[in-house]
Amino acid sequence: LRHLLTMDGLPRQLLTEILDRAAHLAEATSGADKKLPNLRGRTIVNLFFEASTRTRSTFEVAAKRLSADVINLQVSSSSTSKGETLLDTLKTMEAMQADLFVIRHDASGAAHFFAEHAAPGVAILNAGDGRHAHPTQGLLDLYTIRAHKGPPENLSVAIVGDVLHSRVARSDIHGLRILGCKDIRVVAPPTLIPAGIEQMGARVFHQLEPGLDGVDVVILLRLQTERMLGAFLPSLGEFHRDFGLTRERLAKLKPDAVVMHPGPINRGVEIAGELAYSERSLILEQVANGISVRMAVMDMILGDRGASK
Ligand code: CP
Repeated sequence: LRHLLTMDGLPRQLLTEILDRAAHLAEATSGADKKLPNLRGRTIVNLFFEASTRTRSTFEVAAKRLSADVINLQVSSSSTSKGETLLDTLKTMEAMQADLFVIRHDASGAAHFFAEHAAPGVAILNAGDGRHAHPTQGLLDLYTIRAHKGPPENLSVAIVGDVLHSRVARSDIHGLRILGCKDIRVVAPPTLIPAGIEQMGARVFHQLEPGLDGVDVVILLRLQTERMLGAFLPSLGEFHRDFGLTRERLAKLKPDAVVMHPGPINRGVEIAGELAYSERSLILEQVANGISVRMAVMDMILGDRGASK
């Protein structure tokens, strides 16, 4: 693995290898001493041009558990606020002998841009670019599904909410397809479904009840109002009425169906607040699994290279 920019086109064997490595590292760091020496001497830079709680923190925890040195560049107080370009920011941090950059940016393609311009031996990990991709979220979602429901081949998975603006939905759909999932559904009003989603392998539902009928996994998404910019979209109240997960709707799911959400959650919109951490919810487990999956990806990119770059 050289960079990780998208789930699209990842070979099935490599994807499975990442999930297996994550399981192994979770086990190896489950004791009182959570640290492994795998990335000792390596430097990892977190470059987040968009807000994050889970992804940035779990990347930092993952890197530290593998004994790497971590720099969290505070973008709002960095020299980007004085007009320094992305490219010059990259080159400046490379000059400090960084080995791997974890990048989040609101522009789709930002991580590819970094990968094109990174020095030989420097790796780029996409932590979310615009609406395009969030590959480590896709991986941790697959890891969580596999841990609870087994391999996704014969599962029905519904992704509910703002699919239009969601890089998570795209990465989840790619990942589920690669692992052979035959029933991937997206459930949302027509204004929140992107063109071409069927070609990606998803079935579209505009009503919640048929969309959730018989599913094993429900992945809820928040409305990304920061990306909506005046489009004709439902209000938060209308969305909750028509698509929000309530206790009554949860009771109609299969008894062993699980509920997931990449976070951040908006209580009372896509999910009733009382269900956020209920017995059917895997939301906090997803957060914890994010550490293992991110350890696995960084270990496969940097650790497997050994001493040479
Ligand atoms: N799931 C996710 O990307 O969450 P953050 O925005 O908090 O990183």
